[in-house]
Amino acid sequence: RRSRSHQTVSPEAADIARVLFSADDIYRRVCELAREISADLAGKQVVVLGVATGAFVFLADLVRELSLPVQIGIIHAQSYYGSSTESAGRVNVSFDRLKVDISAKHVLLVEDIIDTGRTLQKLLTEMVAASPTLFPKPPASISVCALLDKQARRVKPLPRLIGSGKLYAGYDCEDVFVVGYGLDFDERYRSLPFIGVLKSDVFLHSAEGKQQRRATGEGGG
Ligand code: XMP
Ligand code: MG
Repeated sequence: RRSRSHQTVSPEAADIARVLFSADDIYRRVCELAREISADLAGKQVVVLGVATGAFVFLADLVRELSLPVQIGIIHAQSYYGSSTESAGRVNVSFDRLKVDISAKHVLLVEDIIDTGRTLQKLLTEMVAASPTLFPKPPASISVCALLDKQARRVKPLPRLIGSGKLYAGYDCEDVFVVGYGLDFDERYRSLPFIGVLKSDVFLHSAEGKQQRRATGEGGG
């Protein structure tokens, strides 16, 4: 299979110090994940739920490689940041605008990255608690597909997945703040086709970076 070709590269690419995962690497890995997921969930009624905003690029690429009919929805999870690159620990989850009924369905949650694990834990708890108020029945299973897994940063153990649910992780990611392929810094860099680390001066000169250095007393980075 041919890899995706990216004819244009945003000027934002000039702010990247180091590419961790190239567009071709990511595309190959997405195809592998899609094959595995398609085999595991074949014959089942599947709802794919992307977690906004960071998962939107991964979601779009992944679902187009699945050999399964799926329903697709978006859910919103908001971590409250005490500073720009460190979540403060509180997570707000909303199914308000979700139009798909997940009752008795096999749910695949699609996430950009698992960092501390707080978002995932909250998502799974709330999804189970959403029935019978929001959905008549709980899902038959909940699986999670995250492109990146920063295992070193985990403060919450991964929750036990529901039913026959599985965790699919694209790459183990080193403990650095990454952008691109949906991931942002100050809502920028999401459209870069690869994943990389920002140059330190970009971070240092931003208002968020200044805020972080005040909050943590660190030199930034
Ligand atoms: P946890 O697992 O800590 O993850 O609840 C919360 C959210 O934090 C974001 N996150 C990142 N965003 N670059 C980003 O652009 C990163 O390196 C990074 N690490 C964590 C992400 O939205 C995740 O869902
Ligand atoms: Mg996110």
